[in-house]
Amino acid sequence: MTDKEKRIVSGMRSTGKLHLGHYFGVLTNWVKLQNQYDSFFFIADWHALTTKYNDTANLKEYVKDVALDWLASGIDPDKSTIYLQSLVPETSELHIYLSMITPQNWVERDPTLKDMTKILRTQGATDNSITYGLLGYPVLMTADIITFNADFVPVGVDQVAHIEISRDIIRRFNNIYKVEYFKEPKPLLTDIPLLKGIDGNKMGKSFNNDIKISDDEETTEKKIKQCITDRNRMRRDDKGNPENCEVAYQYWKIFGTEEEIKEIEQGCKSASLGCADCKKCLARKVNEFLAPMREKRMEYAKNPETVHEILIEGSKKARVEARKVLDGAKEAIGMYF
Ligand code: TRP
Ligand code: SF4
Repeated sequence: MTDKEKRIVSGMRSTGKLHLGHYFGVLTNWVKLQNQYDSFFFIADWHALTTKYNDTANLKEYVKDVALDWLASGIDPDKSTIYLQSLVPETSELHIYLSMITPQNWVERDPTLKDMTKILRTQGATDNSITYGLLGYPVLMTADIITFNADFVPVGVDQVAHIEISRDIIRRFNNIYKVEYFKEPKPLLTDIPLLKGIDGNKMGKSFNNDIKISDDEETTEKKIKQCITDRNRMRRDDKGNPENCEVAYQYWKIFGTEEEIKEIEQGCKSASLGCADCKKCLARKVNEFLAPMREKRMEYAKNPETVHEILIEGSKKARVEARKVLDGAKEAIGMYF
């Protein structure tokens, strides 16, 4: 069923190359949803600045990387509007209006933001490195969402608390200005369970446990070899239990066919299959899976003008919609214009 009248919007921060956690947690969902909804996907380079304001040397490279990873994953510029957040300044204007009406304690209570600042502090951040802009993170997200008056926001579970605040801010806007102008957006989640990193923790770039969409085959194999297995299986001739195999078997369940999974299970339980061989096969499966994406990524990487054009054109298109929404918001507030 298509519902092209309904809008979705979502973004990702440009902080580096994307990994399989992004792919399975978010991107596959976007690829599906773009057939169904009027879709806006943006690279959140302002949000990247909330924590990386003094580390901008790679910012442009990161924007390109995210664009390439999206295109490689199947986000289609003919189906979706792909744009760069900072090229749609209407969002920043909406952000100002929202910042005026958002109670300070709402942003201070944002659990996702609290987690972010905690992590930053463990990485050496001091009071002076936690900025006003970072505190406004959920407000800027709300501005992103209302830029298109979106109905749904397809995100990973980690973003849901932010979206809750967005709904509160939007409701408050409508209440204060006595309008029914902005819709309260709902999160759209995937039912795919969280993909673990090779060490068994949540996959994340900064945890050094991720497999990137753009990794080459050798790197992928090396990483898969490091995957946690059944910790009780110490020696080659010990019998294993796939259910206790923390990472490798979980990956098999994603990348293997039903038949292959059965075979692995039997080999593991009977000890006819050793972990090293098991992971070698797995690496091949993962590489096979990623091969077409990597090829597509390489093609786009060879044509940087095409990628640039996609972002520029997408941003132009986004601005047309954003302008209309912004004018309506100014009207609702009572601005002179
Ligand atoms: N905070 C999101 C992330 O870290 C990125 C993001 C910014 C976003 N603005 C948004 C997601 C608006 C959805 C809607 O991945
Ligand atoms: Fe895991 Fe495979 Fe080793 Fe079994 S054989 S514990 S499934 S890596």
